[in-house]
Amino acid sequence: MSNLKINMNNFEDVQESLTKKTLRVCVIGIGRIGLPTALSFAKSGLQTIGVDINENLVQNVNSGKFPLKDEPGYEEIFNDVIKNKKFTATTKIEDAVTNSDLILLSLPTPMDENNIPDYSALRNVGSQLSDILLDNSLVIVESTIEPGFIEDEMISLISKSGKLQVEKNFFIGVCPENANPGEILHDFTNLPRLVGGINPQITKIIKIIYDFVFSVELVEMPDCKTANAVKLTTNVFRDINIAFVSELSLMFEKLGIDTNKVLEAAKRKYNFQVHYPGAGVGGPCLPINSYQLLNTARRTGSNLSIIESGRKINEKMPSHVIDLTSDAFKECGKSFDNSEILILGISYKPDVKDIQLTPAENIIKKLKSLGANVHIYDPYYSSVKIFDIDVKESLSDELLEKMDAAIIVTAHEEFTKIIVSDFCKMKTPILIDSRGIIDPVVAKDSKLIFRGLGRGK
Ligand SMILES: NC(=O)c1ccc[n+]([C@@H]2O[C@H](COP(=O)([O-])OP(=O)(O)OC[C@H]3O[C@@H](n4cnc5c(N)ncnc54)[C@H](O)[C@@H]3O)[C@@H](O)[C@H]2O)c1
Repeated sequence: MSNLKINMNNFEDVQESLTKKTLRVCVIGIGRIGLPTALSFAKSGLQTIGVDINENLVQNVNSGKFPLKDEPGYEEIFNDVIKNKKFTATTKIEDAVTNSDLILLSLPTPMDENNIPDYSALRNVGSQLSDILLDNSLVIVESTIEPGFIEDEMISLISKSGKLQVEKNFFIGVCPENANPGEILHDFTNLPRLVGGINPQITKIIKIIYDFVFSVELVEMPDCKTANAVKLTTNVFRDINIAFVSELSLMFEKLGIDTNKVLEAAKRKYNFQVHYPGAGVGGPCLPINSYQLLNTARRTGSNLSIIESGRKINEKMPSHVIDLTSDAFKECGKSFDNSEILILGISYKPDVKDIQLTPAENIIKKLKSLGANVHIYDPYYSSVKIFDIDVKESLSDELLEKMDAAIIVTAHEEFTKIIVSDFCKMKTPILIDSRGIIDPVVAKDSKLIFRGLGRGK
């Protein structure tokens, strides 16, 4: 491999480095998104190094232990690229950056307890790059950021030491990540990606790199801030629409209308895009992305009241699940005190092992505060301790027989195959379905005390 630094502002240089596979890649932040990204670059034949502050993760990667078991398709790629030494990991950012031409940032962008976006990881790494980035490197930010973050902050952070000047001796762009946890391989190889560079030449350069690695449609954006605006707009659209159907479902419940039936019919209209109501919206994207745009609104003196309302509704949905449960308990003349309640599913969405901002946490907290003994079964967390509760190993008859109620919080595939009448084995046969997966007629025929979110009584 050549030790010469490639000029990342030179189209022909970059093209040749791809053809000859001499482009050296560094991915900073090798978590849920960064690791599959790094593996994709390594799989395409490019020497790739991952940087992470998580020593355990780095150690696991280097000793061949694949950390993302719920991402189908990647374990094989991981084994291959570790074996052929195309991919290694380190905690030492300086060693990695000073031996790379292309630096990808896949750092976390969470929010604090006041729902204010926290860009500290990007800010830290931006400042570090200021001292160690080699001349003519290209930095691509994949993390989800507010429109303007690159232009207003990141460039000044990287230029801080005075050694680097954007568009002179370092280059920057964005390629926001839009993959879904649990489906990353599918999404990386199918979904279009947005590309925005500091100038049109850099946009074109990023495009040839991503085309080489991912071969998906690459949508050229006029600049970084527009690319980030698109990324946030698509996710916040979903957050708002889930809030819309969730609020509607509360009214339909009172009217005895089954929201599922409404949505199944509504989606036959060509311009209706279906979203489903539920126990709330969690995960590393939607809630945070809404708060990111709200932060941008604050910064720019703009008004985004629809996003604010949407967030309030989605954050209120866990308490509606409690109301439905309480209503069912009243019907049986039972109180929450010392009752045994089984939560089915704690992941924030089906079929992933991820509890970031999961609505299950609020439901569990509230039930505990009402005196209930809460149990959990989630196939993705079997036999581990979550929210201070030992997650059950399986959904056994023995477990069901001790329960006063079961609440479906996450529509994991496994729960869609549940035999509804099995819940009749419970001490008190109360079943609450917050995800619309149980047919209310079947529940009624099975003589369950059933409440379905948005399904009417
Ligand atoms: N997870 C998703 O579904 C998803 C989807 C689309 C976009 N995104 C965005 O992608 C970005 C990354 O998200 P993620 O889910 O992969 O996060 P993650 O928490 O799984 O991974 C981030 C990694 O960065 C590491 N890290 C933190 N600070 C660091 C530092 N200073 N130096 C080096 N490493 C550091 C962490 O240890 C962690 O391994 C975020 O902006 C997120 O919004 C995530």
